[in-house]
Amino acid sequence: MKRIIVALVIVEFIMGCTAIKVSEQSNKNIDQRVDSLLSLMTLEEKIGQLVLFTSHWDVTGPVMRESDLGEIKSGKCGNVFNAHTAAYTYELQRIAVEESRLGIPMLFGYDVIHGHKTIFPISLGEAASWDLEAIEKSARVSAIEAAVSGINWTFAPMCDISVDPRWGRVSEGAGEDPFLGSRIAEARVRGFQGKDNNLADPFTILACVKHFAAYGAPVAGRDYNTVDMSERSFRGVYLPPYKAAINAGALSVMASFNELNGVPATSNKWLMTDLLRNELGFKGFVVSDYSGIAELIPHGVTDNLDEAANLAFNSGVDMDMQSGAYFKCMKDLVESGKVSSKSIDEACRRILAVKFQLGLFDNPYLYCDTINEKKYVYAPEHLDAAYDVAKRSFVLLKNDSQTLPLNKSDKLAVIGELANSKRDLLGSWKAAGDWDFITTLLDELKLFAGEKNVLYAEGCKKFGDDRSMFEEAITIAKGADKIIFAMGEDNEWTGEATSRTSIKIPGVQSELLEKLRKLNKPIVIVLMNGRPLDLSVESEMASAILETWYAGTKGAKAITDVLYGVYNPSGKLPMTFPRNVGQIPIYYYAKNTGRPKSPEEPKYRSQYIDSPNTPLFPFGFGLSYTSFKYSNLQLSGSVLKLGQSISVKVKITNSGSFDGEEVAQLYLQDIVGSVTRPIKELKGFQKLFIKVGETKEVEFMINHSLLAFHRLDMSYGTEPGSYNVFVGTNSNNVLSAKFSIE
Ligand code: GLC
Repeated sequence: MKRIIVALVIVEFIMGCTAIKVSEQSNKNIDQRVDSLLSLMTLEEKIGQLVLFTSHWDVTGPVMRESDLGEIKSGKCGNVFNAHTAAYTYELQRIAVEESRLGIPMLFGYDVIHGHKTIFPISLGEAASWDLEAIEKSARVSAIEAAVSGINWTFAPMCDISVDPRWGRVSEGAGEDPFLGSRIAEARVRGFQGKDNNLADPFTILACVKHFAAYGAPVAGRDYNTVDMSERSFRGVYLPPYKAAINAGALSVMASFNELNGVPATSNKWLMTDLLRNELGFKGFVVSDYSGIAELIPHGVTDNLDEAANLAFNSGVDMDMQSGAYFKCMKDLVESGKVSSKSIDEACRRILAVKFQLGLFDNPYLYCDTINEKKYVYAPEHLDAAYDVAKRSFVLLKNDSQTLPLNKSDKLAVIGELANSKRDLLGSWKAAGDWDFITTLLDELKLFAGEKNVLYAEGCKKFGDDRSMFEEAITIAKGADKIIFAMGEDNEWTGEATSRTSIKIPGVQSELLEKLRKLNKPIVIVLMNGRPLDLSVESEMASAILETWYAGTKGAKAITDVLYGVYNPSGKLPMTFPRNVGQIPIYYYAKNTGRPKSPEEPKYRSQYIDSPNTPLFPFGFGLSYTSFKYSNLQLSGSVLKLGQSISVKVKITNSGSFDGEEVAQLYLQDIVGSVTRPIKELKGFQKLFIKVGETKEVEFMINHSLLAFHRLDMSYGTEPGSYNVFVGTNSNNVLSAKFSIE
């Protein structure tokens, strides 16, 4: 036996070396193959590779405009998005491969953000799981279902940090924190492209880092609005997740709609070339966002499409999504010398290289496999994964006197349109998600507890001022032991172009809640929403609040199982919940200011006269059905020397009566710096399962890399001085200790 193992080890070693050699070889091989293809291509065909047109989708399914089909044949449209199903992409790919002169296969892009057919929780919900394995699993399943449906490129991960819940696209991101956002971006790229970034694997797809950059910081939270910030804030807060996704191997980047400090991202050479390529070393290609190049005209940096194409291309945007600028103007720009044929070759090379890496030249129909499509889409293990990720994403915000978990014998009055909605469970950017396999919360509650224990009355709509159904809801509530009120936002109120000036629960839902409260029965709010909401009124009236975001295809079952204690909720907020919209922007990594709030000085301090400074629920907050006690915070040393680490250990005891998972969070504070420093910054987290009565020890390692920042002269590094270490269950509830660096 031993000999066999040794032999296997040797084979493994040879394979390993071969693999490394193969990958170097394959890159050299790809360069050679791209060179030879480029040498055959006309200028029009090269420009065609820089063009991305949308397919359309009508009631009968996908449809491509006849004119665009002609451009595919002529090689003037080399890439398509919004087309899917194996059959339809096969049809389009066949035209490109068998009817165009050089037969260059196409990329098929799509917004597979949180699932393709099996839909997972919205990205903000996934982020609330703080479970990188679960998040990677979600992206992995999404990639498999997309790949077998003809899609080889997803427009994800969205890496936009945001501290403004008025901006509807917070639903697509990972919240407010650069460290958590970076780890999640890496997990999503691993899921989409595979752990070893083997894009030739038919079950991996090309990831796309978006929206580059700082799209999540629009003035007033209004989508597409101006973004203006210091380079220090940009590099310290907004850049890290994009960088993490690129370092994880993502090979496409999408330019954002917004301007950054006066220059639209789509024509921002500093962003797209100096920073992205020269500083970050990005080797893939850049695609504009939808019609982003043509939008340089309303941005006011040009008054014509030719110049827009010229500005975008010479800034570093390789591919034009849907504006038609490159399609119409690029040939003239090259012939007039404004765009060099060398730079056309370079852009074309970057796109062709990715197509080679995807294996499309070896088998253009690799992704158009109807047999695999039937086998993998909605596979039982995919639905199970969607359930598992959903249950981990929920955040228990309140649970007075153990209102939750419910008893199976509880007579429930279930209220709210959202309790009986399938569509809302899929959330925004549901791509090809449909309502097969999906059940409503009401369905699942009845299934779990029996029809007789679950009465339903809609009570009111998700928005609007119709109060005519209030009485019916109150009537059934009078006969119940507990009230389950599914409240929140219509899923169409979140995602792109859904900025709100209010973050309160819409319509008359809260009015109905107030009437139900007068019955003096326990009320459980099940929140379905795509952003932090102002729950300052509702949190006073409810006995328990479970944040479920939009929980996806298996979300209703996951919510039911959490409500009945089959799974103990373990989520933590990835974004601060304000008390009111007036506090925005509000985030945990704030600066102390020169006049921090202080009991000694009641007036002349950085504070409001009509609201506390503190949020309603802080970043990292989330309760459990059990309780976790932190103790015994210990550092292995008090001075961190360069090149060394300090171990930080803490004990966590499950002191309650439910087994459960806890997310231990590590924050650091640089007390004095050459510039002002945040009062704390997340620098580590671990999610662990602890049985009732069990104590586990968690260890974090601190090293200099965690402490580096952009100093006064904007150089990146550390400074000697004292630091606070915080470890705890959320950003406000921590144990602390000190250390210093020389
Ligand atoms: C949109 C979005 C972007 C998406 C693209 C293609 O406008 O901003 O996130 O990937 O168009 O649908």
